[in-house]
Amino acid sequence: MVIPFEQYERAADFIRQRAEQGGQPLPEICMVLGSGLGRLADEMTKAVTLPYEEIPGFPRSTVESHAGLLKIGQLEGRPTAVLSGRFHYYEGYDMETVAFYVRVMYLLGVKKLVLTNAAGGVNEGFQVGDLMLIADHIKLCAESPSRGAIDSRLGQRFFDMTHAYSPALRQTARDCAARLGIPLREGTYFFMAGPQFETPAEIRAIRLLGGDAVGMSTVAEAIAASQCGLEVLGISCITNLAAGMVPGTLVSDQEVTQNAALAADNFCRLMRGIAAAL
Ligand code: HPA
Repeated sequence: MVIPFEQYERAADFIRQRAEQGGQPLPEICMVLGSGLGRLADEMTKAVTLPYEEIPGFPRSTVESHAGLLKIGQLEGRPTAVLSGRFHYYEGYDMETVAFYVRVMYLLGVKKLVLTNAAGGVNEGFQVGDLMLIADHIKLCAESPSRGAIDSRLGQRFFDMTHAYSPALRQTARDCAARLGIPLREGTYFFMAGPQFETPAEIRAIRLLGGDAVGMSTVAEAIAASQCGLEVLGISCITNLAAGMVPGTLVSDQEVTQNAALAADNFCRLMRGIAAAL
């Protein structure tokens, strides 16, 4: 790690102070909304809203479909922080910066991190609009948010990733989905650095390696969260079938954002159900 501990602490102190001024309890849950999935933030009650640029040390989100707002408030009566917009490796940030907010949330006292994203479906049984519970991930590039000098206040040098996506939280998500009648797939999220979408050959390779969905986010955050002991739940919204899977079609950002919006109803219902159950 290169970012000094004090930078995390400054951001956490600022957020704590603003939450207190706004009469909001400190969050126990943090939810991060992926591309096109920002609507959930509007469903929070009595929230304090902090644009990322106001938070000391916070990176800026440069992606159009990401608002760049942190809300501290309540979702289904549970003290929750919702981030609309995250930071991506493809924007030029290193993975430590991508995962900056995770360590800030840990310092604020958050215990459970819900990571959501838009992803391409690789599993041939998946359809556009499906929601996929992330059971595990594959990241074959060398970068890690935990590379370099270690600060024991944010975790240990070596740490287990066997239960990176909490089995207990996955069961909670399955139960919620069943109760709400929302079909929920489950599978392995394969990280690609982007920003280019994959080639059809890469998608065939990802399928052979065991990937069910492919995307450009989430894994850095899940790694930093495992290191500091946060429980993680991951949900992918399948916004398109991956490159080469539908003859005559191309993968585009517009398709990703449009289809994420189409899945937003089920997504928001599931997330509210999960918030209530956590
Ligand atoms: N590939 C990578 N990332 C994505 C995709 C995809 O097909 N869809 C949404 N995010």
